[in-house]
Amino acid sequence: MSASPYIVGNWKMNGTRAMLAEARAIDRAAARYPGVQVALAPPFTLIQPFAEAAQAIATGGQDCHVAAKGAHTGDISAPMLADCGASFVIVGHSERRKDHGESDALVKAKAEAAIDAGLGVIVCVGETLEERDAGKAEAVVSKQVDKSLPSAEAIAELAPGRISVAYEPVWAIGTGRVAEVEDVVAMHAAIRARITAAYGDKGEGVRILYGGSVNAENAAALLAAEGVGGALVGGASLAAESFVAIIAAAGTESVA
Ligand code: PGA
Repeated sequence: MSASPYIVGNWKMNGTRAMLAEARAIDRAAARYPGVQVALAPPFTLIQPFAEAAQAIATGGQDCHVAAKGAHTGDISAPMLADCGASFVIVGHSERRKDHGESDALVKAKAEAAIDAGLGVIVCVGETLEERDAGKAEAVVSKQVDKSLPSAEAIAELAPGRISVAYEPVWAIGTGRVAEVEDVVAMHAAIRARITAAYGDKGEGVRILYGGSVNAENAAALLAAEGVGGALVGGASLAAESFVAIIAAAGTESVA
């Protein structure tokens, strides 16, 4: 696991320009935790103003198209994200897999398009409640990792810290229901095994984040769990107060 924890906020389809003040408050607070790598993925419309103002945290997109440009009405490409200041993109979030029917193959193509554009990538995976109840969670997630991650060739020139996998059980997203720490540890170990199979030694620097109802109260226990390299945070990243509490759970405040 990489040394510094990676805490990423995913604002989903939330936030107008009025929310930029909240983002700036997060940025100012994050500067007090130099040992924590903090990032925020606002909606497309806020990427540029936020990236221009941010000093301590990285700005990213929540999705990108597989093509660099072309006749794809309403879509945004990875080079466009990079052009407006994004340094990473989230791909394969379960809401995109569900709302837009995204397959593992499409997620992989998006991840590779992002790398081509010089972006870091967070690839999301996670099982549904039915799959967990049927005892298939590890098999489902392992297959998603195998088929959604960019190829070893695609990452050959990339610093390993530029790729992360986010394990987000679908039933834990936005529900207030968090996975048990022991289940998170078991799944992160299974994901680590697949990353090693895909990338060999180079996979060591790939962080595995947990996501799904992470909040100020449960963050410390989740972040301390074996194999957890950070968190992907939805609802609790929308307010500086709750998001900064999660950042604080991941690191130590500097006494400047
Ligand atoms: P949540 O969302 O923290 O609101 O559960 C997490 C995510 O979907 O990334």
